[in-house]
Amino acid sequence: MTDRPVLVFDSGVGGLTVLREARVLMPDRRFVYVADDAGFPYGAWAEEALSSHIVTLFRELLEKYDPEIAVIACNTASTLVLAALRAAYPDTPFVGTVPAIKPAAERTHSGLVSVLATPGTVRRQYTRDLIDEWASKVHVRLVGSENLAALAEAYMRDGFVDEEAVKAEISPCFVEMDGRRTDIVVLACTHYPFLANRMRKTAPWPVDWLDPAESIARRALSLLRPRRRRDMFANSVGADIAVFTSGAPDNAARRLMQGFGLYPEKQAVSVDIGYGIP
Ligand code: DGL
Repeated sequence: MTDRPVLVFDSGVGGLTVLREARVLMPDRRFVYVADDAGFPYGAWAEEALSSHIVTLFRELLEKYDPEIAVIACNTASTLVLAALRAAYPDTPFVGTVPAIKPAAERTHSGLVSVLATPGTVRRQYTRDLIDEWASKVHVRLVGSENLAALAEAYMRDGFVDEEAVKAEISPCFVEMDGRRTDIVVLACTHYPFLANRMRKTAPWPVDWLDPAESIARRALSLLRPRRRRDMFANSVGADIAVFTSGAPDNAARRLMQGFGLYPEKQAVSVDIGYGIP
């Protein structure tokens, strides 16, 4: 039997925060990392257009890579398109990434929680429903950041980020009310954990930054069929690859992926993105 990979998907480098946890839990699995860099940033897309863009793209991705499971390591995509992907491709198990509102509501002491996400995720009905269902007794502030995902991309490629810009993006998360303060910030975009140290440094007071990457990796592991011992120790596991939908990653992006042990796929995945970005 051939070795079917785990496909990890995001609009850019954010899904690497999930990939690194997945690799810890599944060292014997082969991974295909897909960065839809042609569509980045997802936070700016209109909903209908983004949804059909991702569903169309997956037809080709599933045909080409035949993954055992697909991890949508992107809140902006998952809160919109998970149900449509499952309906369109019922033979593939999909694991999504959605804002960790339930654990935040369970853990907060002050009752003030902020959800830091892309403008797209903040707008979603899915996100509002999570709050209604799990956090009705908690004060939740939704903070839609225009620039953080791009700042994280630049930081990962160039190794530099403007701390004042990070500070400005996170500052609406910090709420003081009746002598209480926000004590949890949900990182509801997979790009953000890469900036966690800068966020800690520029935050007005310490909070817990909730990163769901490990739980997503655990969920993915729970859905995979256990491997046979023979397969686990076979040398046949191919190299992990990175796929860029633009087909034209720059040198910095290539270096970054290689640093994660991912080898750029030679051939681009064809994708028409001539529509949808408002
Ligand atoms: N990494 C993505 C997320 O988790 C979004 C980044 C973007 O494309 O705007 O939401």
